[in-house]
Amino acid sequence: MLKPFALPENLLMGSATASLQIEGGDTNNSWYAWAERGGIADGSKTSPAADHWNRVGQDVALMKELKHQVYRMSLEWSRIEPEAGRFSADALAHYRGEIERLIKAGIKPLVTLHHFSNPLWFENSGGWLRDDAPSVFQAYARAVTEALGDLVSDWVTINEPNVYLTNGYVYGIWPPGRTSPKDMFAAAANMIDAHILAYGTIHDVRSDMGRTDTMAGAAHHLRVFDPASGNPLDTLVAKLFEYLFQGLFLDGMLDGSRRLPLRRHRAALPGRVSDFLGINYYTRDLVSFTPSARTQFGRLSVKPGSPVNDLGWEIYPEGLYRLVRKYHRRYGLPVYITENGIADRADARRSRYLYDHLYQLRRLADEGVDLRCYCHWTTMDNFEWMEGFTARFGLVELDPATQKRTVRKSGRFFAEIAAARGVTQDMIRNYLG
Ligand code: FCB
Repeated sequence: MLKPFALPENLLMGSATASLQIEGGDTNNSWYAWAERGGIADGSKTSPAADHWNRVGQDVALMKELKHQVYRMSLEWSRIEPEAGRFSADALAHYRGEIERLIKAGIKPLVTLHHFSNPLWFENSGGWLRDDAPSVFQAYARAVTEALGDLVSDWVTINEPNVYLTNGYVYGIWPPGRTSPKDMFAAAANMIDAHILAYGTIHDVRSDMGRTDTMAGAAHHLRVFDPASGNPLDTLVAKLFEYLFQGLFLDGMLDGSRRLPLRRHRAALPGRVSDFLGINYYTRDLVSFTPSARTQFGRLSVKPGSPVNDLGWEIYPEGLYRLVRKYHRRYGLPVYITENGIADRADARRSRYLYDHLYQLRRLADEGVDLRCYCHWTTMDNFEWMEGFTARFGLVELDPATQKRTVRKSGRFFAEIAAARGVTQDMIRNYLG
């Protein structure tokens, strides 16, 4: 029997997007070039995506209809800094307009500076392997904070550096298409330094503006890595995966400590370098010690017989509880759920997914975890990187051909939960019956 429950008291409800996945129209970024060369599951390109650049008003109205209290959006670096060192007043004005609309609609903006896409000038001159990548990123963070810092208190510097680097620098399936673990660790050190520098800059610029409410952090993709069997080697390899895939990044971007095999620190601000723990949570992997060419030392698999989403990822709500509890204990920071969602074109499982994951937040709050926001991935269906439009994560269904937006049943459920600040018996009957 499913039970009604109330949302944690301070939890703001909303959804998350990324500029490249929804805006369309920009040709000056690494993903545009990558998709033009082909290889996206359904052959889609990065434009028009959800044509959000031209539909900001419509989409903010939709978020309001879905009772959003927070919206996590990202800025397209290539629009804001179209050439090295030149910042576009027009692009900044566009984002300013969008943020003003959100605020007017009662929706708090949570703004991400980097979400997987780079300006072409940066990408083509070495990208995250450039020696000066951290300070280049810092200059961009400064320009943005100077332009928008009076409106925006909450910032995500970088989204999922671990996913970006694994796909782009080890597997070679995302731009820049490299397959070198050595490069991946070099780029990782730079991204961590970039975060540390941007964190300091966002604080400095806003405090010069007289603002004392800055909350800056990163969005970390965290997975549960469980051993596939009782074999101690599986346990060992699971721990190694956890350390290399997320531990390194958490320690580097939350408390500024540098872990092997990353090269030494260059950023100026060790110590506390995040004001919140941002978590993107989707799934768990089982890990077995099966050395293979692809993974070097271990193999990942999905628990046999487990429920999965359209992409075959295990649906494992308990994982959200386990990860938040573990890392909240370790770092002691307020928690932002910066992403959580399901690829579910038919909308057959999303409502239950929402219920089950929000219920884990209730459990965590009861144990004293300070949870500040839940940003569902995602607002409307979008350009899902290599999956193109084949993976549908939206609370709102999008027809990419007509750009028609239709709120899914789970989207209505989401709105009712956000408005009522919890799940009621009626909702259980109407949406989960
Ligand atoms: C996360 C990304 C986001 C989206 C979801 C499904 O890894 O941050 O852009 O692709 O997965």
